[in-house]
Amino acid sequence: MVNIPNIHQQPIQIIAKAAQKLGYPTYLIGGYVRDLHLRRACKDIDIVCVGSGIHLAKTAVRGFRQASKVSVFRNFGTAMFRAGDLEFEFVGARKESYQRHSRKPIVEDGTLEDDQNRRDFTINALAISLNAEDFGKLVDPFNGLSDLKNRIIRTPLDPDITFSDDPLRMMRAIRFATQLNFHIEDETFEAIARNKDRIKIISAERITTELNKIILAKNPSIGFKLLFKTGLLQLIFPEMARLQGVDIVNNIGHKDNFYHTLQVLDNLCATSDDLWLRWGAILHDIAKPPTKRFEEGIGWTFYGHEVVGARMVPRIFRRFKLPMGDQMKFVQKMVALHLRPISLTSENITDSAIRRLLFDAGDDIDDLMLLCQADITSKNEAKVKRFLRNYEIVKQKLKEVEEKDRLRNWQPPISGEIIMETFAIQPSRTVGIIKTAIREAILDGDIPNEYDAAYAFMLEKGKELGL
Ligand code: CTP
Repeated sequence: MVNIPNIHQQPIQIIAKAAQKLGYPTYLIGGYVRDLHLRRACKDIDIVCVGSGIHLAKTAVRGFRQASKVSVFRNFGTAMFRAGDLEFEFVGARKESYQRHSRKPIVEDGTLEDDQNRRDFTINALAISLNAEDFGKLVDPFNGLSDLKNRIIRTPLDPDITFSDDPLRMMRAIRFATQLNFHIEDETFEAIARNKDRIKIISAERITTELNKIILAKNPSIGFKLLFKTGLLQLIFPEMARLQGVDIVNNIGHKDNFYHTLQVLDNLCATSDDLWLRWGAILHDIAKPPTKRFEEGIGWTFYGHEVVGARMVPRIFRRFKLPMGDQMKFVQKMVALHLRPISLTSENITDSAIRRLLFDAGDDIDDLMLLCQADITSKNEAKVKRFLRNYEIVKQKLKEVEEKDRLRNWQPPISGEIIMETFAIQPSRTVGIIKTAIREAILDGDIPNEYDAAYAFMLEKGKELGL
């Protein structure tokens, strides 16, 4: 018998009563049952009945004092409603694969066992009876409970069948392994590697949903390593897969940028939950392969990888159907600026360098600093010490300069209008030249970030330009 949490008792009883009235054998199933055993909070409650899921939803909703309307997805034979913070989804047991987002309508009726057979993993195929004779009894034909205890991801059927029913399940296996820190059982794992090419028929949106769930896990590196090992990463994200590997010339190698990136990502996850900053970590060195050179006397160089990398971001975002607005621009900025704070050495951490950094990063400076801190992964202790020391100095300086000069989200103290009025000139290149000269003077620390000083500087500049 499974203990259903007190707060869910009442709504589940209402559903059980409705099912009895209709004479449908009915069960809790899927993620809810899994998460119940893992003691993870779950607000999506999936219900399967031997009968019409739509009919059951419509009957059950009447028992709730407050609930949303029932949404019906007739093509899939499913229906859902919301009550409080819970979401109930109803489906009739089916003989065919359960695919929530597939375009292929699936309606063939089946028994509970048929339905459990066609689910993705044994841990997601556990059911709890809501029937009067054995309410609360676990129905577990594939030893899902023991897989849960042993932390194993395994398909209920031959994995080749389960994955060909819905190839996205290959990514779901890796996603669950990452989120739950579970092991993918060998046969299931081998089937992913064998069937990887089938991922090509899955839409970018569905792939990205799974990828983002991997990225939002505590240790996303687990998922990326599995994606790489199975060969899926090479198909869905070739730029990232290309980071893997070490070239050696004259006995000199460079670090493996794939594993370095994963370490940066995991490091960052300890300090930030932000999906887009995590994308920044994934992409910070993305252009190292295309910019890699071996130079005699110097060794391996990746000149300009931050610039080339920033240019690659829109293409990658577009392909994954990620948002192309502020989020993409933020990631681009992280990639473009990721070398700046740490490349400041004790000799050149000048106020002017700090002012320029603040000016370029704006409000995103704190995120940039988190990324840079995560990027310190060298095995050379002396190097790490030096970087960390510089990092602290940069942080301290940023604070001082910020307090003094207020350069974050800098607004020019002298507007284009004032310049045009003062010199009685039309909008022109000259206005731009003067504006830039004022900005540069402030960033260089030649004049303070104040109106009067900037005004005097403008007059001087005007004279110089013969105005
Ligand atoms: N399912 C499946 N194959 C899929 C998607 C879903 O077999 N491609 C089944 C699984 O039994 C799963 C259930 O449908 O448990 C519900 O799917 P979904 O809500 O997408 O996932 P959850 O398991 O609930 O997990 P999460 O909420 O973390 O996505």
